[in-house]
Amino acid sequence: MWLLNSSIGRKLIMSISGVFLILFLVFHLTMNIAAVFSEEAYNMICEFLGSNWYAVAGTAVLAGGFAIHFLYALLLTWQNRKARGDNSYAVTDRPKGVEWASQNMLVLGLIVVGFLLLHFSQFWYHMMFAELIGHHEVEMGGTMLATTDGAAFVRYYFSNIIIVVLYLAWYVALWFHLTHGFWSALQTIGWNNTLWFNRWKVISNIFATVVCLGFAFVTIAFYVKSLCCA
Ligand code: HEM
Repeated sequence: MWLLNSSIGRKLIMSISGVFLILFLVFHLTMNIAAVFSEEAYNMICEFLGSNWYAVAGTAVLAGGFAIHFLYALLLTWQNRKARGDNSYAVTDRPKGVEWASQNMLVLGLIVVGFLLLHFSQFWYHMMFAELIGHHEVEMGGTMLATTDGAAFVRYYFSNIIIVVLYLAWYVALWFHLTHGFWSALQTIGWNNTLWFNRWKVISNIFATVVCLGFAFVTIAFYVKSLCCA
């Protein structure tokens, strides 16, 4: 099948799975921004997305999207290196006009995934996973928190300056990954005529900035709240 066997087919799979993950990110950001303004509304969403089977199926589809994107990234990088052969060692300078992010997408992706694992261990593991194994409360810093009380988890973690700084570093890596990824995905899908070539680059930069500043806003807002209410 050309989708799996040809390099353009594999790039298309990378692009479609990337756009799918971007859509999730927009949804996730919207939901988290709600937490800053109404913790009650946020917890209602968390409860709705708890451990019911629709939510679990959604998580499984999301995990599938991540797995496909990740495995194809490894495969494409390996194939590009193989195709370049010994020449890859001869090239020391970046070709003109190629941004730093496009040259380092795999490393940036690995950093994003590394932080994502930390994020899962803090939130998903104590919320959805805990519910799936029959727990309704978990102990966090000496206090029992309900597994559906998402706002309490966000409050708990983002009151710690080290975690706040780690998350901000995560958003920087995500910003670089998104600036190139968003534009490159649209180009592969076919929106690559000369008029739109540069426009999509600008739109990608704006999009990545809005998303990452949005997550940073949530993180910092909760940290500031923790200082005010300490
Ligand atoms: C302000 C920053 C963020 C906050 C407060 C936050 C909060 C949360 C919470 C509370 C959950 C658990 C939901 C549940 O299990 O019911 C969660 C899950 C998740 N988060 Fe985040 N998140 C943030 C940033 C991010 C970022 C930047 C990414 C991706 C790069 C991300 C990806 C995910 C994924 C993939 C899940 C699992 C979703 C699922 O279970 O279906 N999050 N997040």
